[in-house]
Amino acid sequence: MAAASGQRDGWSSRSAFILAAIGSAVGLGNMWRFPAEAGANGGGAFVLFYILCVVIMGLPVLLSEVIIGRHGQSNAPASVRKMAEESNRSPHWDIFAKFGVAGAFMVVSFYCIVGGWVLYYIGMFVGDLFGGTSFSGQEAKVVQGRFGELLGNNLLMVGLHALFFAITFFFVARGVSRGIEWVATWLMPAFFALFLAITIYGAFSGGFGEAVAYLFTFDASKLTPQVMIAALGQAFFSLSLGVAGMITYGAYVGRDVKLGSTSGIIAGADTAVALIAGLCIFPIIFATGLAVNGDPGGGPGLMFQNLPLAFQDIPGGTFIGLFFFIMVFFAALTSSIALLEVPTAWAKDAFNMPRAGAAALVAGCAFVVGAVAAWFLNQPVPVITEIPLYTKLNDAGQVVGQDLFDVLDTTYSKLLAPISAILTCLFLGWFASRRLVDSEHGLSSGMAMLWLTLIRFVCPTFLAVIVFGGLFPETAQSIFALLGAG
Ligand code: PHE
Repeated sequence: MAAASGQRDGWSSRSAFILAAIGSAVGLGNMWRFPAEAGANGGGAFVLFYILCVVIMGLPVLLSEVIIGRHGQSNAPASVRKMAEESNRSPHWDIFAKFGVAGAFMVVSFYCIVGGWVLYYIGMFVGDLFGGTSFSGQEAKVVQGRFGELLGNNLLMVGLHALFFAITFFFVARGVSRGIEWVATWLMPAFFALFLAITIYGAFSGGFGEAVAYLFTFDASKLTPQVMIAALGQAFFSLSLGVAGMITYGAYVGRDVKLGSTSGIIAGADTAVALIAGLCIFPIIFATGLAVNGDPGGGPGLMFQNLPLAFQDIPGGTFIGLFFFIMVFFAALTSSIALLEVPTAWAKDAFNMPRAGAAALVAGCAFVVGAVAAWFLNQPVPVITEIPLYTKLNDAGQVVGQDLFDVLDTTYSKLLAPISAILTCLFLGWFASRRLVDSEHGLSSGMAMLWLTLIRFVCPTFLAVIVFGGLFPETAQSIFALLGAG
């Protein structure tokens, strides 16, 4: 039965929504991007600032998005317009949801590239299992070299990218209750079972103490503006925020669901999975001696290069490796589905198309963008990489221009998502009708006050500082140094 209204497709129950929203939030962001970012940004300082970002910005924005969606019961921009009009405000407030739709389109295009990499590793581990490979010495190099081989094989990469897109498309085309909810109710419990088993295994692998120290020791000197920006971007990415994702999923929620506590469950589960993923991956890296001078390293290679190598050194590693990547695949799929659903829901109404047609249109276009990004991986995009925002440090520590993959990621995490979130907060905090908002959040009066204060003052200010820091890193760095000195 559709929970929303009469014949509209929607979640069948509160728990279905919770599972789907957790499915959206828990994904490559937790398993791949979080450990990679934590490793690249010095561990503890990043992690603790990340948690702060989740609590004071992520959770309030998450609740705001779900409120708009549930009230609007439509695609994201239309939901915003409905609330704006009922509050006697300009319908042009829908701009932030449109940014979100654009952001989701960008993210899904590169997300499915990484999804393709996951498929590749599943294939590799299955091959190892049947090939009976034993890994030592020479063969360890073979395992570590696999990532480079994959990245060097454009055709294979684009093929796997297409496969991952096709699977995502299939479920989005089937609709909310028959597709999206169905996947979440089967895959998320399977994900959690595998996740728990591998983490317990990791905890006994020996490097647990070192991993805990690495992830939770706060070193204030490491908290630079770059680390803070990275932590916020990661928190938003992980909670699926700033792409109107939770507005879109919120639109399928029934009126009986209390949004405040439900948002808390979603954010809590997502953060727990990210932290546990760190405690799952880093001990294995430490235990197998892959860390150099206490630094386990970070970046995209962490999950795809170091971890598979580490798996080969532990008993039953090929099995664990296979289960690990299957688990990551489940998590990634429920997220890519959420990402594709945002522009699909919009295109379906905007072009008055059937769901499957809208999903095919969006998936086709996003696939092409992603395929270009995959093909030109590690090749700087011309012109726009003159802008400091679109540069990065290479392995040798030099400033280089970003490739299309990174440009899409940066545009989303440092520009579209925070700007969209600032506008969401300002809209709900200052412009939307209070009576209307109060009838949706389901919070006690104390919590409502706290939430309102956060979205009125705290979130927009912090987010604005962060956008500024992303656009003008050098100025931000000098101001930061000045404040630190004073
Ligand atoms: N939160 C997902 C992850 O962590 C990614 C995502 C972002 C999904 C935005 C939907 C919307 O992998």
